[in-house]
Amino acid sequence: MSEQRPFLLGILGSGKGSNAAAIADACAAGIIPARVALVLSDVQDAGILAQARARGLPARFIPPGKFRTKLDEAAEAAFLDALRQAEVDLVVLAGFMRILKGEFLRAFAHRVVNIHPALLPAFPGLEAWKQALDYGAKMTGVTVHFVDQGIDTGPIITQETVPILSGDTPESLHARIQEVERKIYPAVIAALACGEIRVQGRQTIFTKPLLPH
Ligand code: GRF
Repeated sequence: MSEQRPFLLGILGSGKGSNAAAIADACAAGIIPARVALVLSDVQDAGILAQARARGLPARFIPPGKFRTKLDEAAEAAFLDALRQAEVDLVVLAGFMRILKGEFLRAFAHRVVNIHPALLPAFPGLEAWKQALDYGAKMTGVTVHFVDQGIDTGPIITQETVPILSGDTPESLHARIQEVERKIYPAVIAALACGEIRVQGRQTIFTKPLLPH
């Protein structure tokens, strides 16, 4: 009997890679029924590449080209090619600091997810934990969402709140948010790998409750 092909993840990130590490470890532990096929970064010395290599996972830097907030055409094609060659089923953005556009999103329609460190639609964009703190919010959180052409605008999959405490600094708040991220993202990816989340317009429908996380 032939073994069933595993569900394959491609993880993209620009930073230290704590989410990618949590996801890779959850795959290795069998909590996510999937395999990390490829980790890609637009930053040559990003921690996410080191995290991947330390776990024996294929990891590549792809130069992003001349723009600051997006990939240029050739770079986007190179990312797409690498993910297609690795036969990735789901693209997981984990601190990837560039907007993905047209062809990329069409190639992976409803198969690109992102984690954002705030309760969208509040505080989209950069340093969302700092935005929430500066605003004087008492509560912020984490959002996992599908990626569309906008900045942090795609259909929301799940959200979890994180309190903002008096005396919080941007660092202490971000650390509290990241603790939640490292639990919620693997749970969502496990559900996606099991085909338990459908998307209809802006609505996402869970056929089973998320794993306790
Ligand atoms: C996370 O806080 C995530 O919400 C944001 O970028 C950060 C990535 O952190 N999109 P890490 O590289 O996974 O540690």
